[in-house]
Amino acid sequence: MLFDAIRESHDLQRDLCRKLTASRGDAAARQLLFLQLKVELMAHAAAEERNLYVPLLLTDGGLDVSRHALHEHHEVDELLEELSTGNKQRPGWITIAKKLSFKVRHHLKEEESKFFQLAGRLLSATRKKQLGGSYAREILRMRKHYAAEYDSVAVSEKTGRAMPAAKSARKPSTRGNPRAGAQRRGRSEPRRTR
Ligand SMILES: [Fe+2]
Ligand SMILES: [Fe+2]
Repeated sequence: MLFDAIRESHDLQRDLCRKLTASRGDAAARQLLFLQLKVELMAHAAAEERNLYVPLLLTDGGLDVSRHALHEHHEVDELLEELSTGNKQRPGWITIAKKLSFKVRHHLKEEESKFFQLAGRLLSATRKKQLGGSYAREILRMRKHYAAEYDSVAVSEKTGRAMPAAKSARKPSTRGNPRAGAQRRGRSEPRRTR
């Protein structure tokens, strides 16, 4: 249950990486794919860290793999930050996107082929069941949390995934008035615009 739920996000990440690195010309489409991937990577990392790596960190046998995985999550975060700045059509952007895709694929493969087997042995069946439920709730909550930063993506009630927001459902533009946007979302700080 826990590992099946995690694999579902992994498959989505692979699919979005493939589509993003193949994106050409259409700047709006590339931006949307990037935001969908960014929301998924960040939501998954948070849910996975809280429901797999924290429990593993507390076991002696799981210490090294948890540290290794958390380090890779951090490297992915840094690449996402780099990709978020500036024009996404600029020369060199797609090279960094490919670097991100390579890193993500390497990480997912390592988790699926090594870390899950180890975690499977270190955590009891009851614990894994409990963590599976908690992971599923957490990834949905975190997708909504991160998607709320961007007007162009929203979490679908049907699939529970970050999708392009329906134009009719988009909120009135607060472009040029970041304070108003922040107020609308009940925040004190303007949203990230990248
Ligand atoms: Fe991970
Ligand atoms: Fe993962």
